[in-house]
Amino acid sequence: MDAKQILHEIAGQAAVCTRCELHFSRKKAVPGEGPATAEIMLIGEGPGFYENEQGRPFVGAAGKYLDELLEKGGLKRSDVFITNVVKCRPPSNRDPQPDELAACAGFLDRQIEAIDPRIIITLGRYSMAKFIPNVKISEVHGQPFWHRGRMIVPMFHPAAALHQPSLKTGVERDFARLGELIQQARQSVRAGAQKAEAVASEQEDGSETDQPTQLSLF
Ligand code: URA
Repeated sequence: MDAKQILHEIAGQAAVCTRCELHFSRKKAVPGEGPATAEIMLIGEGPGFYENEQGRPFVGAAGKYLDELLEKGGLKRSDVFITNVVKCRPPSNRDPQPDELAACAGFLDRQIEAIDPRIIITLGRYSMAKFIPNVKISEVHGQPFWHRGRMIVPMFHPAAALHQPSLKTGVERDFARLGELIQQARQSVRAGAQKAEAVASEQEDGSETDQPTQLSLF
């Protein structure tokens, strides 16, 4: 199966999934959308009210703001694949629970494997923690990390900036620098990044680890 077929299969499976409680209040699963060959993947938290109605990610207020933020980074929504760590809406937009994240992880892992993006932009704490555990988003937002040969850029969730206007300037600055980061990721030969990872993990304990490597800022 090619990437498009795999994404289609995942969408079909998410639509009828009963692996966690979120399916009880699901109207439509929100598997994600965008090109199967996208260089850049965005991962949010979970569908909200409008996403649950429409089956599409980031179509509410946070989504409109996300479109503006992408534009600041020189990107269009149609360039990127957008998904979430959970594919069904948590009731009242509460945080996704550990068992729900675990039940849904297989869908996201298969999407990443199929699309094989060079860059993953995480939106909010939950998607960041999948790749960069044990850090505070307030300390690492906008800074690139390498994880398994991909650049991971942790960003604040757009909804956080809508709820806390004091975050807005920083969020917009982070997205405005995306263009530079994309260039940096393109220039970095994957093998070079993997070598850096291997050296870093050798220094840690002499064995291969799954730890992300923070890139220096320029
Ligand atoms: N917030 C998210 O994290 N994902 C969506 O799809 C919409 C809002």
